[in-house]
Formats: sequence, C-alpha cells, structure tokens
Amino acid sequence: MIPPRPQLQKVSMYSPGKPIEELRREKGLNRVIKMASNENPFGYSIYVDQAVQEEMRELTRYPEITSPTLGFKLARRLKVNTNQLIFGNGSDEIIRLLTRSYINEGDEAVMASVTFPRYKTNVLIEGGKPVEVEMTDGTHNLSAMLKAITDKTKMMFVCNPNNPTGTIVRKAELARFIDEVPSHILLIIDEAYYEYADSDEYLETLPLLNDYPNMIILRTFSKIYGLAGLRIGYGIMAPAIVQELMKVKDPFNLNRLAVAAAAASLEDEEFLQNTIKKNKKGRKQLIQGFNELGLSYFPTQTNFIMADVKRPAEEVFEGLLSKGIIVRPGHLMGYPTMLRITIGLEEENQLFLEALKTFTQETPQSAT
Ligand SMILES: Cc1ncc(COP(=O)(O)O)c(C=O)c1O
Repeated sequence: MIPPRPQLQKVSMYSPGKPIEELRREKGLNRVIKMASNENPFGYSIYVDQAVQEEMRELTRYPEITSPTLGFKLARRLKVNTNQLIFGNGSDEIIRLLTRSYINEGDEAVMASVTFPRYKTNVLIEGGKPVEVEMTDGTHNLSAMLKAITDKTKMMFVCNPNNPTGTIVRKAELARFIDEVPSHILLIIDEAYYEYADSDEYLETLPLLNDYPNMIILRTFSKIYGLAGLRIGYGIMAPAIVQELMKVKDPFNLNRLAVAAAAASLEDEEFLQNTIKKNKKGRKQLIQGFNELGLSYFPTQTNFIMADVKRPAEEVFEGLLSKGIIVRPGHLMGYPTMLRITIGLEEENQLFLEALKTFTQETPQSAT
C-alpha cells in the first residue's frame, strides 16, 4: 500500500446527519423526517426556481471564477466592498482554503472543545495542531481561549452561534476578545446561523471588520436560504486575505446553478423574514415540549436545539430512527446524553416530541 501523508493518520472522515434516502432504504419506511443537519424545512425562495431554470441554458459554459454579479449584490446588501468577499462550495470550502493558505506544519489553531468539526479536521490535514479549549455550559470560554494563545498560534475559531450547542457568546465579551486577539493571528468567526440569532446579546461583527483586518466572517446560503444541496457559502475579510485564498481555490469551485440561486435568494427578503418567524415558533414549540418532559437544553440562537434526554443519546437516536425520525446524537460530539434536533415544520416538531415521549416512557432506562 502506498502510504498517504502521515498527517492523515489523525484525521477521521466527516460523519454527516443520516440521509433520508438511507433510512428509507434500511427500514423500508415511506415517511422519514430529517431533523439532523440544520437545513431549512421551509424550503427556499420561490425566485430560485426561475433563476435556476434560466441558468440551465448556460450549463455548457464554465462559470465565472469570482461570481461578480452575485458578489456585487451581496456586497451592496452587506455594505462591504466586492473585494472583501470570496465564495466557496459551501462555507466548508472557505474553512479549507484558510487552513490550506495559512497553516504550516506545527502551527496551532485555537477552538472550542465542542464546535463545528471541520475546523479541527482541516487544521490536522495541514499538519497543524488543534488546541481545543473546554467550554462552559455549551458556550465558548473566550478568556480561556485567549490564555491558550502561544507563539505558535496562527488561527482562532469562534463559532457564533455555536454548532452543535446553539449558544452565543455575550456581546461585550466577544468585542473585548476580538480586540485582545493579537493582530498576527487570524480570527475566524463562523456565523453560519447568523440570520437566526435574535438576542440583544448577539454581536454584529461586520461593522468591526475594517478595524480588525485579521478577522474573517463566514456565512452560508445552506441554512436560512435553504440551498444546502447546491453548496454555496462565503467569507468576508480583508482584500489581502481574499487575494491569497483566490490563489488556492479551484478556479471553478462554484457551479452556475448555485450562483444563480444564491443571487435570486438575496432578492427575497420576505422568504427570509418568514423563515425567521416560523423558526422562532418552532423553537418555542420544542422548548415547551422539552419543559413538559422535564428535559433541559442549551439556550439556542439557531435553527436547532440541543437537549439532554438523560439517557444514552445513541439509544434514543436509534429509537427515533425506528419511527422514521433522524436527529443527531450527542455522543459523537462530546455530549453523551444529548440530542441535537433541527427545528422542523410544526407537524414534524410535534411528531418528534410524541416519538420522544413514547420512547422514553416505553423503554427502560439503561445506565448512562
Ligand atoms: C457552524 C457551521 N459552519 C459551517 C458549516 C458549513 O456549511 P456549508 O458548507 O453548507 O456552507 C456548517 C454546516 O453545518 C456549520 O454548522
């Protein structure tokens, strides 16, 4: 066997939410409800269909390598310059471009102990060292993260709101943190769930970007815009960093349909606001259900919620699977008795709560 790069020994493959098709095949179920990957259950903007149809006519042609029309629209919306934007095949790709461009063998990257796993994986692939800082009640411990900085630190990740816990870091604390991170360290703030955050304690980082040229903001069209299947996300950062990432990215990293869909989505404020409203209602519904079942949960600012089912998560996950409901078990994420549930349609939330209740009543509790 030809040995791969030694760095890969420490890397494991991404473990995604179970796909609907897979569960259908395995259990022969007609109806499957997926509440596992923080997708948008309310769909995507009606403008997308037409935009994609029109773009289909251009499929024989390569896309443009910088997506200028989309860039212009998004820059106007965010009130930034187009040269501060870079689009990726999902924000996943931007994370990879950042580590590819900046992490040298032995460089350290500070992150929370339970956060989006692609930070760690990409740092490891480049031969860097992830420094995972213990969290406090499912929330980043920013002062501990500052203390974890050494002369080898090259990068820091703050996922805000955090996946999988759904929590945010407090406004003043994050502002202080941004100010205290030394300017030679890249500070990556992943805001994949930005649009869902409605707390007064959520910090708007975008206006700070010009003051902190080492800061990078990541956002995506996969979540609130409902375009996870098309793969498109973006980063906002100093033009000099964009220039470096552009050297590393595949030239045609985005497909034409994704770019057209994203641009059309930006026109539809109504869809966005409706999703926010319905998600908020769904949050309340699940929280009320958990309260009735006597279960605790992390306060969420996202379209998912992590609840403590007080028994091995894997057991409950399997029990729900047999009823055609896919959630994400916490044992894979460092929370062995918790489930991460994506907020679904009202009916899906109801079915999930009923299934959870039935399972916990009917199944004797094994030792945790
Ligand atoms: C915090 C966070 N960042 C980034 C991503 C990647 O999203 P995408 O590559 O679909 O833009 C996700 C997806 O679940 C996420 O939860």
